[in-house]
Amino acid sequence: MRMPGVVEMGDTVTVADILDALDKITGGRVCRRASDLFSGRNRFVVTKSSGLPGKAVTETPGLVFGDPSQEVKKLAVCMTLTEGHIELAGATGVNAIVSHHPVADAANSGGVPLKTYAALYGIAVFELHEAFHGLHPGIAFLHGHKVFRVDIAYGGIPGNVMAVGKALDGVRTAGDILRRLATYMAYDDEARMMEAERRVRKSNAIVEANAVTAGVILHGSESSPVGTIIHIHPHTGFTPAHLEQAVREHPDADTVICSISRASEGSPLVRKAADLGLTFIVGNSHAMEILENGVPLAIALRMMLPQLEIVVFRERVSSYPISDIGTPAIREYGREMAEKYLVRSEGV
Ligand SMILES: [Fe+2]
Ligand SMILES: [Fe+2]
Repeated sequence: MRMPGVVEMGDTVTVADILDALDKITGGRVCRRASDLFSGRNRFVVTKSSGLPGKAVTETPGLVFGDPSQEVKKLAVCMTLTEGHIELAGATGVNAIVSHHPVADAANSGGVPLKTYAALYGIAVFELHEAFHGLHPGIAFLHGHKVFRVDIAYGGIPGNVMAVGKALDGVRTAGDILRRLATYMAYDDEARMMEAERRVRKSNAIVEANAVTAGVILHGSESSPVGTIIHIHPHTGFTPAHLEQAVREHPDADTVICSISRASEGSPLVRKAADLGLTFIVGNSHAMEILENGVPLAIALRMMLPQLEIVVFRERVSSYPISDIGTPAIREYGREMAEKYLVRSEGV
């Protein structure tokens, strides 16, 4: 007898089985039929737009591209699909990718239609973004607190997520939170990876996203006590006025944590926190979401589809000054192409 939700060993896994597993993980939030995409029946089908012509994308949780009957042997979980991911999948026998962030034609497939690129390597593509958010309390846990209130549209702004939580046992100070993040996210490893890259590439000017976005205290100190925490994500539209409101609603709050996106020193949000007497901590950046959300998703899929090989595609993004990029020969090639073909004298 088949256990519900678990494909038994020996069974082949199909694209449809993965869709089933994602539907079970999300409690029925994925699109199961074409009509789900357009009818307004699925509240996780949402269009994201900055109002830039032609640049909106509609999230469609579930299968984006692929044949439901196709067999899958190896699956990758990633945050944002890129041409690098598609090439890595093609080169390592991955025939299904679950991307957390939504997938848009060409934007997530190297400037060409996803259909032609993914079909070339026989890759089925899934996405699972807003439909995955809020399913587990892990992001608060990693930052050292337990949430007792979540508002996913604070101040009436959809997506402006504010969580309020109590510090976990053993988490007493802002320093405890930073040390907890350093341990879970392996800050030392990230710093060593960046050092290794600098050594191999012979450039001390290289910086890497995971290594330069470690947690930091922007107001308060390591010894500042932590009890009730307001956890926000500034890129979703959280303003100083929202912080004032949140403190009125939670007068015992002593700490703000911002994560995914960061606030900067002296920014209006940090100044407002200081005015209100709150410690302000910058936690994990978006670069760490592969560990925060990608790893639980990958492990859930492995538990439900144990005969599938599952890997996690993790990115490192490095910044190089032009003087240090590639080899001397590549830099010379770049200079020659630019000089002969790109920088035209009449245009200068
Ligand atoms: Fe996310
Ligand atoms: Fe994200």
